Amino acid sequence: MRDAVTVPVIANGDITDPATARQALAQSGASGVMIGRGAQGRPWQLALVAHHLYGAPAPAIPQGLDFYHMVATHYEAMLTFYGGDLGGKVARKHLGWYMDTCATPSALRQQVLTAPSPAAVLRLLHGALAEHAPVAA
Ligand SMILES: Cc1cc2nc3c(=O)[nH]c(=O)nc-3n(C[C@H](O)[C@H](O)[C@H](O)COP(=O)(O)O)c2cc1C
Repeated sequence: MRDAVTVPVIANGDITDPATARQALAQSGASGVMIGRGAQGRPWQLALVAHHLYGAPAPAIPQGLDFYHMVATHYEAMLTFYGGDLGGKVARKHLGWYMDTCATPSALRQQVLTAPSPAAVLRLLHGALAEHAPVAA
């Protein structure tokens, strides 16, 4: 497929980890891969693939309190960037993905996503994320 065009071809779709990236490159002969949903809630996944396929430095995958701090920083940045109303809505999908990564129990997840204020979100998130290790791919 790559030989049919003169621009670099990037493979994507259902690439989530080093194994699926390697497979997509082998099957397509593409110049690179792009990862969308596979990085949601686990942004280090891009560096992890680059590490395994291209020898880039291995990413530190934050665990426990470090993961909470990473997510809290992202949450606050979204509120600052978009403003409280829109930022709260944009943040909900990201917080959901982060909680997916930690297999947060559904009742707690619901509480986080319907909490009445940023302070309440952060307090509940601490319980949702700090005590659960992300599931590394
Ligand atoms: C949150 C999100 C937003 C996306 N926005 C666009 C977009 O604006 N334009 C587009 O062509 N594709 C968009 N896509 C599709 C992705 O570029 C990609 O083709 C698709 O997600 C399949 O790759 P994946 O399996 O790695 O997610 C989006 C995908 C996601 C998950």
